[in-house]
Amino acid sequence: MNGKQAAGYQAVDEIHNGMTVGLGTGSTVYFFLEALAQKVASGLSVTGVATSQKTIDLAENWKIPMESLNDVDRIDLTVDGADEVDQCMNGIKGGGGALLYEKMVAQASDKRLWIVDSRKKVQQLGAFPLPIEVIPFGWKQIEKMMQEKGCHPQLRLNTDGTPFETDAHHYILDLHLGKIDDPEALADELDHVTGVVEHGLFIHMTDKTLIGYPDGHVETMERKK
Ligand code: 5RP
Repeated sequence: MNGKQAAGYQAVDEIHNGMTVGLGTGSTVYFFLEALAQKVASGLSVTGVATSQKTIDLAENWKIPMESLNDVDRIDLTVDGADEVDQCMNGIKGGGGALLYEKMVAQASDKRLWIVDSRKKVQQLGAFPLPIEVIPFGWKQIEKMMQEKGCHPQLRLNTDGTPFETDAHHYILDLHLGKIDDPEALADELDHVTGVVEHGLFIHMTDKTLIGYPDGHVETMERKK
């Protein structure tokens, strides 16, 4: 078992009969979905709300009942991965390009749980490139603005060299920052750039994080009240 598997499998213990569950995106969430599907097959009744087409495809394949975000009143708990998590449980997400839908689903959730492997736990955010999701119209202007701010933006590309498109048909600029001294201030700044639809800084947006280690043990971090 690796760290992602350990965290993903443990997260299923948080799911109870009748819950509406936000389903994140990524390779750690894959293990959570696998374990959830087994519980559903054994009679657990849940409704899933996906954060990406990839997750819809997996969940449907594994016969997890699904609804869209528009068709549920509220989500009880969302389980999602992250690319980096700091000591305050702020994080960077969007490595898989699903940050916008992930943040919308998180925002509609009563509780949020992150599942990560131990390599994602950091002292300071920013070594992982921070994704910003931008409107394709005029994206080069945003790129120029980010360059001028010293953010070292890079347009995310597919393997064939074409721009990567999110499920909402936007582009992604990855900001190579190295370190982020004040995540809240940067999040606030990016929230106010017209043309940036969303950014991958998730500030105070999780309640609990399960951190899986290579030996299979799982550490729990909870938000201090
Ligand atoms: C996708 C995400 C993922 O949760 C994040 O990239 C972590 O992915 P993985 O579990 O594959 O390492 O934010 O947009």
